[in-house]
Amino acid sequence: MDNPDKSKKLKCLSTESNGPLIGHATIPGDKSISHRALILGSMALGETTLHGLLDADDINSTAKALVCLGARINKESNGIVRVNGRGVGGLSEPSDILDLGNAGTGARLLMGILATHDFISIINGDQSLRQRPMAHIVKPLEQMGAQIHTRDGGRLPATIIGTNNPIPISYHLPIPSAQLKSAVILAGLNTPGRTRVIEPAATRDHTEQLLRRFGAKIQITVSEDEGKIIDLIGLTELQAQELFIPADPSSAAFPIVAALLVPGSKVTVSNVAHSPTRSGLFETLVDMGAKIDITRSENSTVDITAEFSTLHGADIPAERAPRMIDEYPILAIAASCAQGSTIMRGLSELKVKESNRLNTIAEGLNACGVETEILKDSLVVHGKGGPPSGGGVVHTHHDHRIAMSFLVLGLATPKPVAIDDSSVIATSFPGFIDMIEELGGSIGPK
Ligand code: S3P
Repeated sequence: MDNPDKSKKLKCLSTESNGPLIGHATIPGDKSISHRALILGSMALGETTLHGLLDADDINSTAKALVCLGARINKESNGIVRVNGRGVGGLSEPSDILDLGNAGTGARLLMGILATHDFISIINGDQSLRQRPMAHIVKPLEQMGAQIHTRDGGRLPATIIGTNNPIPISYHLPIPSAQLKSAVILAGLNTPGRTRVIEPAATRDHTEQLLRRFGAKIQITVSEDEGKIIDLIGLTELQAQELFIPADPSSAAFPIVAALLVPGSKVTVSNVAHSPTRSGLFETLVDMGAKIDITRSENSTVDITAEFSTLHGADIPAERAPRMIDEYPILAIAASCAQGSTIMRGLSELKVKESNRLNTIAEGLNACGVETEILKDSLVVHGKGGPPSGGGVVHTHHDHRIAMSFLVLGLATPKPVAIDDSSVIATSFPGFIDMIEELGGSIGPK
């Protein structure tokens, strides 16, 4: 499932203003859903057929790991991916280290699966993933009976000694994290009895939705005091499915914000995954004065059209963060072109993403002539009503969303904006550069 891709060949890239962005932007399949579709397909009985699976480095890393664990995954020339699963508890000991590359979601969800398989496996990742914390995932999985050894500070590589006697737990999520929630629920698949996860603040619910689709015994109740209660009865076989994976709202965010910032632009994205757990950015942009039209289409997806808008600053509450956690880099770009200050609150989790995004966003904006402040867990971006000067070279710190966000900024600024490493874009959106060029944007070597 390798993908020849422009961004991988050109390491240093810059964008410059080149007139309006017009047209229909092609957006790849949703990354969160793609990881889960491959994982659940590998745990199901029979052949799962996936249409629109994201073909990007993160998903290819998860697919490779699942193949090492015994699943059969084949991509046809028409893009359809077929997964032959091994049944719940049916994965087998890998003969090599599982290298998840940059895929934090892949690593954490697989840890959940592996915790309740009776064999030893080792998970590793690239330089960036090896810096990211795993202790929060390890803790509940050890309560379920697994032994997990990590480097100091809970970092990868991790050795997972899966238990042959899994214990169902009832687990209150200490932080709003869909990865943590999913790791525990997935560990519950091969555990007798009821595994319960209690989620005080809603995070993306693709694991629950897809498990239901694959025939898992999963029940969700909402309590006023506790929030969402997810109950999974383990040792129930999953049945293979045919799935159509919608476009990724987190990837759609880039051309949408680009259209808002470049005068005369109008851009549409179609078939975007619609979920209240992922819609925080679009709500925020509308609050900031964005002209965004969202229409429901078939299969509970949405079409979104955005056009050039005069934006103003906003105070974004911490409660909204779980519903737009991956969108702060591109929101900060929009804020840097708005009139007045934008305060983004409750961003402690941003410090442990693909980079420390609180710092990388502020550093990149400063290099492009924007004033910022980091106040504990909040980021303040001071906009001056229109694009900043640009002209900076932005360090991506191996972070795909930082790379794409700053290339979007360069489409609006008087001086070009350069990034030091475009290869990271392939993590989630290999067609990003083509997409921007098709809309009329100019991207070239630095
Ligand atoms: C994801 C959950 C979020 C998000 C990540 C994808 C998922 O992470 O930032 O990009 O697919 O479950 P957390 O669960 O750590 O908040």
